Amino acid sequence: MKICCIGAGYVGGPTMAMIAMKCPEISVHVVDLNADRIAAWNSSELPIYEPGLDAVVQEARGRNLTFSTDVETAIAEADIVFISVNTPTKTYGIGAGRAANLEFVEKCARQIGRVAQGHTIVVEKSTLPVRTAEAVKRILSSVATEATFDVLSNPEFLAEGTAVNDLLNPDRVLIGGESAEAIQTLADIYGNWVPSERILTTNLWSSELSKLTANAFLAQRVSSINAMSALCEATGADVDEVAKAIGTDSRIGPKFLKASVGFGGSCFQKDILNLVYLCSHFGLQEVAEYWEQVVVMNDYQKRRFAESIVKTMFNTVSSKRIAIWGWAFKKDTNDTRESAAIYVCRDLLRERAQLHIYDPRVSKARILEDLEIVMRTNGDSLSNSERELIEKNVHVATTSYEAAEEAHAIAVLTEWDEFKTLDFDRVYQGMHQPAFVFDGRNILNHSKLAQIGFEVHAIGKK
Ligand code: NAD
Ligand code: UGA
Repeated sequence: MKICCIGAGYVGGPTMAMIAMKCPEISVHVVDLNADRIAAWNSSELPIYEPGLDAVVQEARGRNLTFSTDVETAIAEADIVFISVNTPTKTYGIGAGRAANLEFVEKCARQIGRVAQGHTIVVEKSTLPVRTAEAVKRILSSVATEATFDVLSNPEFLAEGTAVNDLLNPDRVLIGGESAEAIQTLADIYGNWVPSERILTTNLWSSELSKLTANAFLAQRVSSINAMSALCEATGADVDEVAKAIGTDSRIGPKFLKASVGFGGSCFQKDILNLVYLCSHFGLQEVAEYWEQVVVMNDYQKRRFAESIVKTMFNTVSSKRIAIWGWAFKKDTNDTRESAAIYVCRDLLRERAQLHIYDPRVSKARILEDLEIVMRTNGDSLSNSERELIEKNVHVATTSYEAAEEAHAIAVLTEWDEFKTLDFDRVYQGMHQPAFVFDGRNILNHSKLAQIGFEVHAIGKK
């Protein structure tokens, strides 16, 4: 059997590497238009940082796992083609800012229709609006001359930073489709390592909608606890204690109750906005407004954090040095898409703070590019004053200590483990007094910091 996967990103790369590792008899070819990304997959420096991924790729690459830019050959040879391309929020036209941009998915469908040979199973791995498979089926049948197709929906539930473990031991694998035979073919592949009771099959539309629903529910829990964090700060309750107290209720459960500076990542916001758009499209205005609040609350949480820094530091951060610890949207990934750090730093830069940013896995170029994009107020380019602000006020450090030297404050924006074990006496000695710590992840030992002399402000604690 031969598999092709279009899209060598955070999902396509790790997912296919796992299939290849677990199914040595299947030949897996991952293709992408981005030649640099493919070159990185073929090198010792993989394009994404994900604990444990190197070993998985090393075991299969060169044996039954190939990465290339030869999309057409890979499709033509394949029995199964996964579509794992990006589906970002539309930035133009109808549904701009909400609907999913399906341009890349449609291009894949047209290319598969043109190039595929014989009978091919096409698998939607990307996260898609419910009923996209209808369009995919129509495109395939309109474009193809002789080839025939089955379309399946097989959304991915891995989280970044834990992708390898999530792929090894998934809570479930979901396969939606119309042809029992096609569903069984895909289920048999996962069956090589996933117990059969964890392989769920549904109709196409339930599968597509379950993915959006899962992300909406997860994000909603984070926004709910973050909403409570504001009330905790106002009343003297402690959000971590509240989370523990409610999380022990087996109906609620302990996961996804960690209050934070706000959720980030490429998917939560995009998928909820997509859900909101779909609900409006079907005339379900109340449902749309209900889910939209999850994003509204998240924006509030990010803004509230930056505002509290300014307010606490005597209502001005202008020219003050603030150490930013962490840029990735969560620990154990180099992904910065929609990271809360980007928005907090934008707001602090507008207040003229001097930012000294450190992240153990994110490159200086990535940090600067993220800031250049978020600081633009006028179209596609930075104004001279915006550029100047970034050039003069943003510095990227190579260690946490370097970032904190001579700082007036530290803001923890990603929960990297290494921040917990620093020598805080040393950090304190190098800072201006009063030395503020704003722990946007509640990961530091606050009483110990207070003993040293820091003034600590945490999420959801008075
Ligand atoms: P990504 O941007 O990292 O990767 C997508 C890749 O597709 C890019 O490398 C791009 O060059 C390539 N591509 C786009 N059009 C192409 C074409 N026509 N031919 C060949 N290559 C093409 O995206 P991602 O994070 O891997 O996400 C992919 C999909 O999976 C999205 O729909 C996302 O919502 C979903 N998803 C992502 C995650 C995650 O953790 N990142 C988890 C679950 C689901
Ligand atoms: C999320 C889902 O967890 C995956 O199941 C899904 O496949 C994926 O989105 C997707 O569709 O892309 P991911 O975004 O990689 O995975 O990471 P999460 O662990 O869900 O974290 C998302 C954001 O929420 C991060 O910024 C994280 O710091 C934040 N978060 C998470 C909290 O603030 N508190 C929590 O309790 C949990």
